[in-house]
Amino acid sequence: MNTSTETRSNPLARIDWDYVEFYVGNAKQAAHYYMSAFGFEQVAYAGPETGIKDRCSYVLEQNKLRFVITSSLLPDDAIARHVALHGDGVKDIAIVVDDARAAYAQAMAGKAASVAAPSEASDAGGRIVRATIATYGETVHTFVQRDGYAGAFMPGFVEARRSLPGSKKPGLQFIDHCVGNVGWGEMDAWGDFYARVFGFSQLVSFDDTDISTEYTALKSKVMTDPRHQVKFPINEPATGKKKSQIEEYLDFYRGSGVQHIAIRTDDIVATIDALRYNGVEFLDTPDSYYDMLAERVGKIDEAFDVLRERRILVDRDDLGYMLQIFTKPLQDRPTVFFEIIQRKGSLSFGKGNFKALFVSIEQEQAKRGTL
Ligand code: FE2
Repeated sequence: MNTSTETRSNPLARIDWDYVEFYVGNAKQAAHYYMSAFGFEQVAYAGPETGIKDRCSYVLEQNKLRFVITSSLLPDDAIARHVALHGDGVKDIAIVVDDARAAYAQAMAGKAASVAAPSEASDAGGRIVRATIATYGETVHTFVQRDGYAGAFMPGFVEARRSLPGSKKPGLQFIDHCVGNVGWGEMDAWGDFYARVFGFSQLVSFDDTDISTEYTALKSKVMTDPRHQVKFPINEPATGKKKSQIEEYLDFYRGSGVQHIAIRTDDIVATIDALRYNGVEFLDTPDSYYDMLAERVGKIDEAFDVLRERRILVDRDDLGYMLQIFTKPLQDRPTVFFEIIQRKGSLSFGKGNFKALFVSIEQEQAKRGTL
């Protein structure tokens, strides 16, 4: 099947990230955290002042990244119950599509569960068509058809621009991939879901012989759209001597959900320096990792002592190399976190780093007494 035929027959062949919506306990404070720590700017707002009575939503942007931070104003609606059960976390990984009705129809044909049938909303900025389907846990995907919509994010929102001048701009660019943790033995079924519903194919897979340390283990497979714009790695726990970090996530999140969002940068050293200045905390990496690094990855543009000082990880594949580092969890529960990633040719997800990473995650788990 050539690309043009594929694009015509699959309404999800030409897609991109639209926004990621977090449900949180206090959107006002969470929005301030993502602005001050990660350098986002607020661009739009919805709440009682704009005629929305039951919630507040802050829309934050940075280059091509867009987050929506939402909390409930009610004691017991779906948002409040989501936060009570899961803590702060990712609710919606929204995808921009050319035709939301066609995307939804394909998802229904693929036996996805419907959350909201296609609906239109319009205001002076134009019209948006949306539809929402369920994925793992209580996470959803909204298909967003924008048709050149020129208003503030979506009907119901007003433009509300605000930035924090004291926060350093880290130059975060766009989402590279968004990872889901699912329960024991569920990885293949969710990989099949993205193949069946989205028409995705499998990019890579790892099993517990690749990704295990003395204590933790997991299995992972990466599903991607034909253009490699939207990539969804799916993890499930595997048996180790002690509790897998995926299992710890499932316990604290009370089920499947988004584990991390990987964000691309063009200059990881400058990005990490700005984020650290803003107070972002990263996972540490054992010093021994850097003793073996030059031998493992060969010649790279960056000085090894610059990477060691910042605890940046490096991995190489046939096509090039990549640099990555992981933040600590973004809320008190050890659930969702960010990865900062710079690619220099490599399409890898850092398989060679998993072992080094897990050793450092286990050091954090041990501090929490959950190993
Ligand atoms: Fe990742």
